[in-house]
Amino acid sequence: MSLLVKGGTVVGPTGAHPADVLIEGEKIVALFDPEHSGSVTADEVIDAAGKYVIPGGIDAHTHMELPFGGTAASDTFDTGTRAAAWGGTTTIIDFAVQRTGEVVQDGLAAWHTKAEGNCHIDYAFHMILGGVDNDALKAMDQLVADEGITSFKLFMAYPGVFYSDDGQILRAMQTARANGAMVMMHAENGIAIDVLVQQALARGETDPINHGLTRPPALETEATSRAIALAEVAEDCPLYIVHLSASGALEAVAAARDKGRNVFAETCPQYLYLTLEDQLGAPGFEGAKWVCSTPLRSKHESHARDLWKGLRSNDLAIVSTDHCPFCMKDQKELGRGDFSKIPNGIGGVEHRVDLVYQGVVDGQLSLERWVETIATTPARMFGLYPRKGVIQPGADGDVVVYDPNGTTRISAETHHMNMDHSAYEGFEVRGHVDTVISRGAVIVADGNYHGRKGHGRYLRRGLSSYLV
Ligand code: URP
Ligand code: ZN
Ligand code: ZN
Ligand code: ZN
Repeated sequence: MSLLVKGGTVVGPTGAHPADVLIEGEKIVALFDPEHSGSVTADEVIDAAGKYVIPGGIDAHTHMELPFGGTAASDTFDTGTRAAAWGGTTTIIDFAVQRTGEVVQDGLAAWHTKAEGNCHIDYAFHMILGGVDNDALKAMDQLVADEGITSFKLFMAYPGVFYSDDGQILRAMQTARANGAMVMMHAENGIAIDVLVQQALARGETDPINHGLTRPPALETEATSRAIALAEVAEDCPLYIVHLSASGALEAVAAARDKGRNVFAETCPQYLYLTLEDQLGAPGFEGAKWVCSTPLRSKHESHARDLWKGLRSNDLAIVSTDHCPFCMKDQKELGRGDFSKIPNGIGGVEHRVDLVYQGVVDGQLSLERWVETIATTPARMFGLYPRKGVIQPGADGDVVVYDPNGTTRISAETHHMNMDHSAYEGFEVRGHVDTVISRGAVIVADGNYHGRKGHGRYLRRGLSSYLV
């Protein structure tokens, strides 16, 4: 089976130019100058005239079915990867979980059981370490060597759930420095946050906005700086700050990068578009929809503007979603009357490609930088390049035809995620995902879904391309 994507403008991190893309079987085999591709034939031709042809999106941060706060994220690997496909994402990297007291390999096996045979697009795993001890440190080596898992997430927040203390973090970083893995950090000072949470509840301040007010930017900045210091002590262990939301944290990352340090960071669409006041502070219990950690930041400070700047300067390398959806009914409602019991997370895996494209529309990002932050850099950062994240011969046939003249209206009525609301309800965005190809199979075309559960395969990852 061969497929020719014809007449479009291929966009990659180094430029945009007209080219026809030939896919045979599961792989991209050639790019043709359109002036000379007249004699090229294929079983199926996709007309991409007037459209961008980009590598399939890679969402490097999702939590399908994550158990959290007495419930579990509402998207399964089936529903969540299908929604991702609708939005132009053809690879996710989800977080397998070891909880405190659990054997790392058991947590990983449980994640494989959830995902295997259920994914519509290709998938890989990072590993969350909820308890760093000698066994977990040995497991890190084994996962890097045998399982294709080359990144480990640690938490400076959520004491009693996922929290690691500084000694545990340092030991995990030393292990990663030695085996080539990346340490990913949830950088918020959870010990101080818990004090603020208890004080707020004691004062009777129970509404969702208190989730944000008890997790001030200073405690993200402090934890980010501490993580950077610990990584320096671990002989510059590669460090990747997840869901960065605060200007001060970004400054700390930028300062480390200016010194040539192995420090990287991602942000998420929610921090670029949504705010503490307008969403988390919505009347009554409505704000629960936007409870996530790190929290949405104040519109009266410069966070969102600084994050866009960070995306341009590469102090922020990637936009991931941190997709962790919970319905209002029966899930977010667990925290009615006590914001600290609202399960943390926002769903958005379907909208990342469109939402970051608005940066191009608004003049914040170049076309090339759009593709880099949503596809190419995630592939390089997490050991999937050049199989993923680029349109070139030899790469997987993961291709999206994107219509810059189309529009997309985001709503819970039309989205495909298993959520009873949308964090972006009513957003009208420019641009539209037209056609989605995953390993040579057309899975979205003309507003119809042609994918299937089980098409997606597990990806064993290599070490990061950015490692020095
Ligand atoms: O609120 C969030 N981010 N939920 C998902 C878990 C995490 O910390 O990434
Ligand atoms: Zn060219
Ligand atoms: Zn986190
Ligand atoms: Zn997360």
